[in-house]
Amino acid sequence: MRFIGNKSQLLDNIKEVVDKHAVDASTFCDIFSGTASVARYFKQWYEIYSNDLLYFSYCLQRGTIENPRKPTFDKLASALGISNPIQYFNEMATADMESLKQEKRFFQNNYAPAGGRMYLTDLNALRIDYARNTIENWRRHGYLSDNEYFYLIASIIEGIPFVSNISGTYGAFNKTWDIRSKKLFTLIDLPVVDNGRNNKSYHKDGTLLLQEISGDILYIDPPYNERQYLPNYHVLETAAKYDFPALRGITGQRPYELQKSNFCSKRTVCSALDSLLKNAKFKHIILSYNTDGIMSLDEIERIMKSHGIPSTYEVYFIPYRRFKSRNKNTKKDILKEMLIYIQKEV
Ligand SMILES: C[S@@+](CC[C@H](N)C(=O)[O-])C[C@H]1O[C@@H](n2cnc3c(N)ncnc32)[C@H](O)[C@@H]1O
Repeated sequence: MRFIGNKSQLLDNIKEVVDKHAVDASTFCDIFSGTASVARYFKQWYEIYSNDLLYFSYCLQRGTIENPRKPTFDKLASALGISNPIQYFNEMATADMESLKQEKRFFQNNYAPAGGRMYLTDLNALRIDYARNTIENWRRHGYLSDNEYFYLIASIIEGIPFVSNISGTYGAFNKTWDIRSKKLFTLIDLPVVDNGRNNKSYHKDGTLLLQEISGDILYIDPPYNERQYLPNYHVLETAAKYDFPALRGITGQRPYELQKSNFCSKRTVCSALDSLLKNAKFKHIILSYNTDGIMSLDEIERIMKSHGIPSTYEVYFIPYRRFKSRNKNTKKDILKEMLIYIQKEV
């Protein structure tokens, strides 16, 4: 999924650090899970705890991490004869979805031209509205278990970025239609690894969650800069909650005061990392950060060493290139992704 800081390109690098330091480990906590790409990858080897402040991230995790395997939809099959709801929605003609009452079409009424915005075409917005309303009805009638419900919500969320008319994030929509937005929205059939363990997904402030859980490996991938995540992904949050929020402004933001992260402010980030590490009851700690982030490497070293065993501290640099435009000149910057390891006495 397109998501700021998605680590799907860094999985092998993280695995190398894990394998070098944590041969004795059996549990892995992805405390800032985002797209759940790291948790999904490590699920094949470890019992996983995953977590994020964003509810749509929780749904992605809940559908593929806490779920032990792909659901079978037995009740839905016996009640309505639908054994594969993903295929059911994906193969349905849009004309058949027109029966959905106007007042139930939150996406079409707010994120599509019918509602004065261009995040999605009217047709794709209706397909999302139809699937979301139907899934809530099925749940209300008892046709879906929680595992099945969250699997379907995750399948919807994964499908939306493929047809969204945005350049990267939902901070704004494009004023003309991007080619991807003309494709038909479909739910994604997500694979689920069955690792035979008791995996658990959470939707909490990571620092507070670490007061409750303990384990072996703690992977920490906080935001690097002052851009809060929710305003950049508000459409996905609404798809997950489907809570008909009061939207604001041209871009249609939902309220997000309660989901602000103190890792996104230069003023609070150091004490945020300090509290998180203080609470951590994990032996192996791996922090992902970026040389362009709002915390300096010196600050990170000081904080990590104050909670861990200083002689075990190690930094791994993973170079990548990025092109930035500044003062009309195109300037080539070399930034580095870092993986920073320390062992903690627990
Ligand atoms: C860099 S992204 C993680 C990306 C993720 N590793 C991936 O591969 O998709 C940072 C994540 O931290 C989450 N976050 C920020 N502050 C948080 C907090 N205090 N507790 C839990 N999650 C938080 C954000 O919502 C965002 O999803």
